[in-house]
Amino acid sequence: MISGRGSNLRALIASEVRSAIRVVISNRVEAAGLEAAHDAGIETLVIPHGDFARREAYDHALVEALRARGVALVCLAGFMRLLGPTFCAAFPSAILNIHPSLLPAFAGLHTHRRALEAGVKLHGCTVHVVTPELDGGPIVVQAAVPVLAGDTEASLAARVLAAEHRIYPQAVRWFLEDRVVFASDAVVQVRGSGVSSDSMIAPREPN
Ligand code: GAR
Repeated sequence: MISGRGSNLRALIASEVRSAIRVVISNRVEAAGLEAAHDAGIETLVIPHGDFARREAYDHALVEALRARGVALVCLAGFMRLLGPTFCAAFPSAILNIHPSLLPAFAGLHTHRRALEAGVKLHGCTVHVVTPELDGGPIVVQAAVPVLAGDTEASLAARVLAAEHRIYPQAVRWFLEDRVVFASDAVVQVRGSGVSSDSMIAPREPN
């Protein structure tokens, strides 16, 4: 599900998980990512949140559309609407989000600006399981990038985005291959994650 540019969606489409994508849903008709889906021959659907008076009704419409297409794993790729308990309960432990910070640091918006203001030397991105708590669900994988002297919000965002495009397809693949283990409500482990990149922080292997 997307709301805008769709670069993470493009990364998913360019990866080996592409054949598993059943539908791309946007809450905004002008989302550029819809074109990427269309070009790839993937069904697109616009469900504008403004058409619904209450969040609950909107969440219900999303769930109906996803269920009608047999969707088992929901991937938020720049979907900028909060999802309520109704939605989360409909896909337990099966909603993923990509967030542009090393959670739990910098949940919410303007993560790159806030990272620069805080003077952190490491920044990055996180794929996590979605729960009703904003940017608060179990972490699946993170990638760290350095904050360099002279970085601007734009230069830091670009460095993080490149890392997002690497880890999101990877995380989705782990779910599709059924390699994800919930060691507790908060901790995700991945069987045979085999991550070798020096800037990627992989989840531990289960015992
Ligand atoms: C990405 O940087 C993603 O991490 C962020 O929005 C951007 C969407 O870009 N998501 C969030 O901030 C969610 N809280 P994209 O449309 O090009 O994939």
